[in-house]
Order: sequence, then structure tokens, then C-alpha cells
Amino acid sequence: MDVNEASADIIGGAHAKVKHDSAVRHVTGRAVFIDDIPSLPGVLEAVFVISPYAYAKIVSIDISKAKAIDGVHEVLMAEDIPGQNDIAPVFKNEPVLASEVAEYAGHPVALVVAEKYDIAFHAAKEVIVQYKVLQPILSVEEALKKKEYTYPPQIIERGDPIGAINLAAQKISGEIACGGQDHFYLEGQIALAQPGEETDMIVYCSTQHPTEAQHGVSKVLGIPINEVTIEVRRMGGAFGGKESQSTIIAAAAALAAAKTKRPVKIRLRRDDDMVITGKRHDFEFKYVVGIDDDGRIEGIDLDMAMRSGNVADLSPGVLARALCHGDNCYYLPNVRLNGYPCKTNTVSNTAFRGFGAPQGMLAIEVVIEHIARELDKSVDEIRAINYYGTSERNVTPYGQVVKDNIIVELTDRLASEIDYEERKADIEKFNADHLTLKKGIALMPVKFGISFNAPHLNQAGALVHVYTDGSVHLNHGGTEMGQGLFIKVAQVVASVFQIDINNIKISATRTDKVPNTSATAASAGSDLNGMAAFNASEIIKGRMTGIAAKHFDVLDSEVEFRQNRIYAGNESISFAELAQMTWAERVSLSATGYYKTPDIYWDPKKLKGNPFYYFTYGACVSEVIIDTLTGESRVLRADMLQDCGKSLNPTVDYGQIEGAFVQGMGWLTSEELVWDDQGRLLTHGPSTYKIPGSRDVPPEFNIHILEDAPNRFPTIFRSKAVGEPPLMLAISVWLAIRDAVARIGEGRLMPNLNAPATPEAILMAINDTRQRARK
Ligand code: MTE
Ligand code: MOS
Repeated sequence: MDVNEASADIIGGAHAKVKHDSAVRHVTGRAVFIDDIPSLPGVLEAVFVISPYAYAKIVSIDISKAKAIDGVHEVLMAEDIPGQNDIAPVFKNEPVLASEVAEYAGHPVALVVAEKYDIAFHAAKEVIVQYKVLQPILSVEEALKKKEYTYPPQIIERGDPIGAINLAAQKISGEIACGGQDHFYLEGQIALAQPGEETDMIVYCSTQHPTEAQHGVSKVLGIPINEVTIEVRRMGGAFGGKESQSTIIAAAAALAAAKTKRPVKIRLRRDDDMVITGKRHDFEFKYVVGIDDDGRIEGIDLDMAMRSGNVADLSPGVLARALCHGDNCYYLPNVRLNGYPCKTNTVSNTAFRGFGAPQGMLAIEVVIEHIARELDKSVDEIRAINYYGTSERNVTPYGQVVKDNIIVELTDRLASEIDYEERKADIEKFNADHLTLKKGIALMPVKFGISFNAPHLNQAGALVHVYTDGSVHLNHGGTEMGQGLFIKVAQVVASVFQIDINNIKISATRTDKVPNTSATAASAGSDLNGMAAFNASEIIKGRMTGIAAKHFDVLDSEVEFRQNRIYAGNESISFAELAQMTWAERVSLSATGYYKTPDIYWDPKKLKGNPFYYFTYGACVSEVIIDTLTGESRVLRADMLQDCGKSLNPTVDYGQIEGAFVQGMGWLTSEELVWDDQGRLLTHGPSTYKIPGSRDVPPEFNIHILEDAPNRFPTIFRSKAVGEPPLMLAISVWLAIRDAVARIGEGRLMPNLNAPATPEAILMAINDTRQRARK
């Protein structure tokens, strides 16, 4: 079958609008999450003992009192680890349990294993740890000043930025910051480890990265990788939070299971989950930009300082992506992007939907806004003259040529469909007529690179079996976190065999079925695993074709798989009959498939290359209203147009766009992480940390998938990745709030408003703008 096109005369083939395979199970409670697996005999539960200090030397740990408690089986410390106390995903020396120093308030220092959760929970308080408190670094600013990094700063540079800025007609500089974000997945971090024969270990773990969990368990237990199996059927949300952080839970559960020879479950309660595990990186930006009289950027020097936290974790990838999206849709001829991974005594930050790109894009959007305000022009005009070209001005700061640029067409189409110019005029009028309430509006264009920055991660495997009754078993290295990957890959297999989707059994991800996998991340899950499953299915189909040709006595090329049957001229047999026949002929009905993304390369030292196979585009216009007396804001309307290529499943993609936008809105408006002056997280539950609710969804919420836009690069059936890009469309909400605040100062003053734009922050920005406007 041609990978460029899928025919559509079966139920649930590629491009069909089929619902998520678990939709009914999700809403009826029949979907099995790890905590729903029937309790194993003798299962124990474990709870972490965590450091109350942001930075402290661990002087001694006295476990005797805790261990004496009825029902407590073990209290484990770093010294009990038989292998290496290291689960670093990129570098080294990132411990499961702190040994000599605790580096953030919440750092696990011991693990109490007991008959029941409540016993472990209370016994954890009886573990007496003596600390010598040290002076922590709690802010990005301080880490920058002291040059404390988790790894060396990273720079992308092209041309002569400083020279260009100095020669430019105008020079503008400024600062902006954005906050972090907790993943707030519905299902918290969880792992259930079950010891097997000798040192074998199987761990059911809510993870986006079973292979890395497998490596973590193998390292910590000091056993070969082939003795460890990780299984995950589905996650109750992950959003990047279970890419590396889940390894801590898997490794700790496996350690406890190995020690007690009993199954052990670790399920973090919400407060512990929020305190112990990493989040989206908050960033501080500084920029100097040189422009010509029209506002075209000639040179830019942009600092991006991220809160890496106590260790590097995935910060290298996140920072690389932030730097690679510091251009968003704009051509920056002379450019220096300086990335600083600041080491602080706060939890190590990690992957979160967008993986640094939202932060990088937010910064350049503020630069664009600043140019507009300085020149008293519209932001959209400044955007337009700085957009990447198609045949010139089309090379990114990291050296990749943008070959599939559709941003101008896409934003024009959106603007004309929603009468953007008229609505801007209406808002002017509204604001002239209203003193207390002010409206704002903004467009956000998005260009997002698809592929992991590190080329070696862009590979995937699949395992497909056809059984003699014609039913198909599907397995691949991707994981399901609610994003609909499993149904999309099943649709691909259905299309190859031309059989209805209900014939395909979706199965749990397991490291012993498909080995050496990448994390399901970077939105590349369906691109990679879809193609691997396609390749596996094609192999089996090729063999079955040979059997059919022999049966019908025709050439292979005369055999056609169509509507659940196999045809040769006027004759046909069912798919099941052919499966049975193939088996009887002693031909294998099982195959593995493999795929690697072509044409990508990356020089991690120079930060140059062609890291992305293609780009995906989107645009959104948001209209907001703010109350200048209270600082409250409301999104009145959002219209978005998202490029999904030739969507594998518009129903699933629609949900992804909707969810990503609302999650992005939360990041930028209501979700605020607050630490006290000792570095303790104060917002560790829903009472103090406000994720968006159903009533925060804009009353007018129009989502459109760009029609007739197959991927220009050959991906699985010309689809495009969709998981992360629409999150960045929500930056339009934040920009619109800034626009509303700026109306107080007649639009020329840059509002002093960082993200998140909480009511407090908006109110302060309003008062600040008012005061400056009077001067
Ligand atoms: N959608 C749901 N429902 N739950 C999630 O956890 N994670 C997002 C996105 N959509 C997520 C989600 C993130 S961070 C990524 S990278 C992609 O899904 C991963 O899946 P994909 O590669 O299959 O798109
Ligand atoms: Mo997504 S942040 O790449 O897991």
C-alpha cells in the first residue's frame, strides 16, 4: 500500500473520525489504570521520606523507630541500593534517593515500605533525619549571577547580532518572565513492581518512557536490562511529566520489591506528587533588538535563563527546543540566542507539552509587541514584515531551511474568516465607551518543529500478529496517555489490511515486545509508531498476498485487499480464510516493523543542523475582557486554525487542539507556582493551584483543522503531529490580556505583565501602566 494515501472503504481506517478506543471505558470507569489492577497477594505500599530543606547535608538517618512500627517491612535509604543510585536520562549523577545532600525541599531521602499506605505514611514521619542546613540558591537571578548551571550554557548564533543592533535605526531592549506549570495529570505518578524468578522484575508503571524506566530499574538493582520488563496500558494523562520523572517511581518501587521479595506499589498522593516531581521550566528573558524604520528586525540578542532545578534531567532537550523556537515564525538575520540552564535548589524541572518551545515563542512575541508599541504600529503589521519568506529569508538561526512555510496563507485565512480587522475596530469602540472594562485582542502564529532534536531518538518499532481467525494483535513502542495514539496506529493497520478497526486488538506497551524505544513525546508518537506499524503490517500483507496469488493462481499484483476480503478478479475469500490458509502453508503471520525519520541531523555542540523533519503551523485569535478594578480576566472568544496535515483522525485531533489550548491558557493565566523564602512549594494541591475549569473555556470557542493540507513531506498517510503545537496558540490569550492592559496607556507603553497573568498581576500591571501614563 502507498504510504501517501489510505483508501476509506472500511470502518475506522486512516483519516476516519473514530472515537478514542477507550472513550467509553474512560467514562464508565472500565478503563484499567495501574491502581485498578486487581491487588496482588502480599502487595506492600511505599511512601517517600522527603527533605524539608531546600539545601542540606544529610548528617544521619535513624530508621529504628519507624522500622519498629507494626506493619512496616523496610525503610530503605541510598545505601541500600545494590546497583547505581543514578537515573539521569541525559547526563549522570541524578539519584533516586538523596545520599549526602538533599538538594530541594521535597527531595526523597528514604522509602518506607509497609503493609498499607496509611502505615507507611505515618511511619515516614518517624524516620529521624538529621540535617545540616546549607544556604540554597532559590532564584534564577541568583543562579545566573553566581554562574551556577546544571550543564554549560548553550548558544545559537548567526551573523553579527551586536554589529547589526548597533548599526540599526533603532535599538529596543526589555525583559520578560514566564512561570512554570504543574502537569496536574488526573492519575498521579504510580508504579507497581512485581518480583519474578531470581532477580527478574516486572514493573507496571505510568510512564511515557518504558525503556528509560527499564534502564533505571536495571541500573538501580544492578541487573541486566533483559531481566526487567515495564508494562503500561495507558496513563491518566502525562503531558511530559512522565517522560523521565516516572523513572524515580519505577526504580524506587523495584528497589522495595527486590528487598522485600513482595510486590510493591508506590502511588504518590497529589501533594507529594507536586512537591517531589518536576514541572515546566519557568524562564527569565532579556532582549536587545535592532530594527529598521519599518520595524524589521536586523539583529537580536536574546537571553533565555531557565530554572533547571537541582539536576539537569531533560533540561538539555528543553533548552535546545526553547532556543530553536526563539524565532517562532520570524526571520532573524543576525541573531544570538543565549540559553542558561540555571541550577537552583528547587525540584528539577522537566518535559511539559511544548518542551521549552512555548517559552521561547513567548519571548519573541514580546519582542514583536515591543517593536510595534515603540513605532506606534499594529502588532500584526510588525509580524507580517518579519515572517519567514518562502524562497528567501527562510533559514532558521540554527541553519535549517524552512521549506514548508504556510504561515502567511494560514494567518490570512484565519483573519479573513473571523473578520479580524472589523473586530479590532469594534474593540476600539468598546474601549472608548467603557472606563472599567477593557477588551483586548491578539493573534498568535505558531511554527513548531517536529522530531526530537537529538536524531537518535527518532526511531520506533512495532510488532504485529495476525491470528488464524483473522483477528490482529497490535503492539508498538508508543504509549497511550489520552492523546489517542493507540487508535491512530490501529487505524493505520486497519488501512493496510483493509479490515475494520474492530478486528485489531490494541495492547499494552511492553519493553519485552518492542525493545529500545524512545519516549512517546515531541508529538512524534503517531509519526514514528504509525510508520513502524505500517511497515510491520506491510511485511505480513506481502506474505499473505503470495499465498492468495497461489490460491487464485494469479500474479501477486492481481491480488487486492478490499473491504475485509481478498479479491482476484471476480473471486474472493475473507481475510480470516486467507489468514488460516497462510498458516496452513507454514508462512509466518507475525512481523516486526521499524522506522527512522529520514533527513535529520543535529550538531549538539554548535547547535546547528536540520533537527526537524517538518514544521507544523497554526494560528489563533483570542479576544479577552479585563476588569480594571479587580484585575479579573475572561476569554470571550478564541478562533483557531491548526495544521494537522491530512489528519489521521480529525476527532482525536480536535480534542488535542481543544485540550492543548485550554492547558496553555492555564499556564498563562491562572496556574501559579509559589515557593516560600525557604524554597518550599506552597501551591501543592488544587486548593492553591488553579488549573482551568470548564467555565474558563471561552464561551465562543471555534476550532478548525486546516483543510486540504497534506504534509509536504512523506509521513504516515501525509498526516502531521498535533499533540503539543496547539498549546502555543494560547499565547494569544496572554497577548490579548497585555493588549487590554496597554489600552490604559493608549497602547504605546509596554505593560509590566509577566506570565501567568493572574488577576493580581493584571491589577498591578494596570496600576503601573496608569502611573507611567500620567508622567
Ligand atoms: N493528550 C492527553 N490527553 N494527555 C497527555 O498526557 N500529552 C501531550 C500530548 N497530548 C498528552 C496529550 C504531550 S506532552 C505530547 S508530547 C503528546 O501528546 C505525545 O503524544 P503523541 O506523540 O502521540 O502526540
Ligand atoms: Mo511531551 S512534553 O514531548 O511529553
